[in-house]
Amino acid sequence: MRSSEGALGTRRTAVLGRSSHSRAKLDVDRPNPGRVYDWFLGGNSNWAIDRVFGQRLLGMWPQAAGVARQNRSFMQRVVTDALDAGIHQFLDLGSGIPTMGNVHEILQLRTSEPVRVVYVECDPVAAAHTRAYLQHTDWAGVTQADLLNWREVLADVTTQRLLDLDQPVCLLAVSALQFVGPDDNIADVLRRYGSELAPGSRIALSHFASDVPDPLSRAAMERFRTAYGAIKPVWLRDRGTITDWFDGLGDQWTLLNPGVAQLPDWCPDLIAHPKATAQAETERPYAWCGVAAHDN
Ligand SMILES: C[S@@+](CC[C@H](N)C(=O)[O-])C[C@H]1O[C@@H](n2cnc3c(N)ncnc32)[C@H](O)[C@@H]1O
Repeated sequence: MRSSEGALGTRRTAVLGRSSHSRAKLDVDRPNPGRVYDWFLGGNSNWAIDRVFGQRLLGMWPQAAGVARQNRSFMQRVVTDALDAGIHQFLDLGSGIPTMGNVHEILQLRTSEPVRVVYVECDPVAAAHTRAYLQHTDWAGVTQADLLNWREVLADVTTQRLLDLDQPVCLLAVSALQFVGPDDNIADVLRRYGSELAPGSRIALSHFASDVPDPLSRAAMERFRTAYGAIKPVWLRDRGTITDWFDGLGDQWTLLNPGVAQLPDWCPDLIAHPKATAQAETERPYAWCGVAAHDN
């Protein structure tokens, strides 16, 4: 069991930072989605309350941590592939806590060329962790906003400072859109982002699956979903819905091979998280992912 309490220390009430968002008192008496996810990934930015909640979730759906690692591996392959395609700017919607090989860390490993990263988080706890981690990194920053507010995200001072929207951007929404409910029009939001991005850009996303074939596996995931709802509602969607989102981007966008796929199947040769590779088979059916490119 990990014991570190992460970048923000051990106080039960944290009051942080400079911006109006971060002056708010943070609720540290409840498990936090970003910190639970960090624990699933094997990170240190989580507290006892997150670990207890995470253990309870794993009791219901033992694959949850492995699927988180699969998502992380997918994201790293997408970033690597985008770099290879000459993209140096990254907009990460629903970024969580940027540790355990997150976007700016994989970029540091993969290139010495100038790159830019904007993390977008609505959760004040995850945003505060991100600010703390990035305080000495001038080429990456966090925009605290709801990803659905695409205008606000793109006009935010941090986004504007770091990204040149006239140049290609790789937009990531990895394991984030499953927290957006049916009352919000995800297809339209993606289309809006897509229309603001320059030729050569990419949009990558992954999402929990509703169309898991095995009924027992589906039931386990459903128990997880219900319990997780105590801290944040989660929605599951099928392959057809994810495919429709990509189709809705418009004619200028092309879905890259292998199309909408299960996480281990998206360009597995690029790089792989060792644990993710070993457990790929048992975790395969639980999420869909894909990447579209804006034609040059
Ligand atoms: C499961 S974590 C995924 C983190 C990261 N993308 C990754 O793949 O490791 C999902 C994150 O999305 C954030 N999130 C959920 N809904 C959001 C919204 N509407 N706007 C911005 N962030 C959101 C949550 O706060 C959470 O930190």
